[in-house]
Amino acid sequence: MDYKMLVNRDNLLDEYYVPLNLVKTNTLYKDNVYLEEETFKNFELLKQKAKEYGYYIDIMSGYRDYKYQEKLFNELVGEKGYNYAYKYIAKPGSSEHQTGLAIDFVVYKDELCYKEHDVEDLEETKWVHENMHNFGFILRYPKDKEEVTKYSYEPWHIRYVGDIAAYLYRNNLTLEEYLRK
Ligand code: DAL
Ligand code: ZN
Repeated sequence: MDYKMLVNRDNLLDEYYVPLNLVKTNTLYKDNVYLEEETFKNFELLKQKAKEYGYYIDIMSGYRDYKYQEKLFNELVGEKGYNYAYKYIAKPGSSEHQTGLAIDFVVYKDELCYKEHDVEDLEETKWVHENMHNFGFILRYPKDKEEVTKYSYEPWHIRYVGDIAAYLYRNNLTLEEYLRK
């Protein structure tokens, strides 16, 4: 598996691309969430470390196949209109969720489950953002890099890139910027 794999609006996967090493996760959020094996292992380590600080995170979304991404995109267009959907949900083929390397995480706190925009100001999220590079993850769509990633800030969407994560974090680089060098 190429953990540096770039999937974005300009680098598309075909409809039939399925990662080979998908495993079923144990997230309490919902059934049948799959991830690439090493991504899942490292998320488990991150989750375990978070727990030591009294922070409870879990997986809301992991691997999504092409058809499912298409369904999500069309549903959001129906709910919020094309312009909103275009900003937040990748069109089928351009989502890195199709690689099994991306995770949308949730935070459990005070008997509530925070997800998507609601995780933004939580101390748990700040901790994840500052520590996940030790486990091979990066924040894929940072606030100040919208021009580069072509997506709005998504504090909940993290991406496994393996051993380059710390370098990207320390140098404030997106995957696009790193691969361009
Ligand atoms: N929300 C990200 C961009 C995706 O749908 O892959
Ligand atoms: Zn996502």
